[in-house]
Amino acid sequence: MTTTSGAGPDDRYLLGDGSAEVEHLARQAEVYAEEAGQLLDRIGIGAGARVIHVGCGALGILDLLCARVGPGGRVVGVDREPRLLDAARQVAAQRGLPVELVEGDATGLALPSGGFDLVHERTVLLNVADRARMVAEMIRIARPGGVVALQEPDSSAWVCDPPHPAWDLLRTELVGAYRRSGKNFDMGRRIARLLRDAGLADVKVRATARVTHAGDYYQSFLLMLTSLVKAQIIAGQRVSDAEFDAQAASLRAHLQQPGTLTCQPTLWQSWGTKP
Ligand SMILES: C[S@@+](CC[C@H](N)C(=O)[O-])C[C@H]1O[C@@H](n2cnc3c(N)ncnc32)[C@H](O)[C@@H]1O
Repeated sequence: MTTTSGAGPDDRYLLGDGSAEVEHLARQAEVYAEEAGQLLDRIGIGAGARVIHVGCGALGILDLLCARVGPGGRVVGVDREPRLLDAARQVAAQRGLPVELVEGDATGLALPSGGFDLVHERTVLLNVADRARMVAEMIRIARPGGVVALQEPDSSAWVCDPPHPAWDLLRTELVGAYRRSGKNFDMGRRIARLLRDAGLADVKVRATARVTHAGDYYQSFLLMLTSLVKAQIIAGQRVSDAEFDAQAASLRAHLQQPGTLTCQPTLWQSWGTKP
């Protein structure tokens, strides 16, 4: 597990380097494929397009992009974490996906300017301290007339019902751990403004949220994330190790009740055109 030190921006990936994150990214790709498809429908990416998924992780939407652009297109995935790129390579080989996978940092991409019809990212910006620089890089590698698209979460609607004190505590601590490391879990509401401020034209925005019940994979999403970020939460010194474990156990029991539902973080999508 990666740990943070001090209160300033921390460039390390908060979700650590374990297999749990790889497994989660595979589930995220599956569960949020519908929303990604809706985004691509609205953008109108078609056969032959040159597209890139920045921070693709273990797959992201690379499979959906391959299906849209077809054999005449080009699909590139970039990520900073070699272990996640290895996982993406394995999936691409298993599924016969014609993708180019490249190691690189989203805030300084070693790619020529103007080469892509679509530059996309999902749940990367919330992990990056220099958001404006990442967006500027995405715009740089898009061609004039090309589209830059962002998908980011926002915790504002992330609730459970019936309410539970452990939910409120763990949600607050998770968002706080991101903030202390210079990251922002509430990127969603800001992404349209980021694109407009960076000079994109015709910026569109939409937001959706999923409701889950006991037995659904995402029902325990908050517990999964807080377990990955536990060391940073404890470092905040408002919750002890033992209290964290007790709260997590209490919340797990509550989320497994048949009557308990959760609304997951809102997924905001925003896209605009490079002039
Ligand atoms: C939550 S995962 C999302 C992965 C993928 N976009 C998806 O939707 O499944 C965040 C990803 O961003 C990558 N990442 C974080 N900071 C990065 C940076 N500065 N440059 C490139 N990738 C980065 C991580 O390695 C990880 O793969």
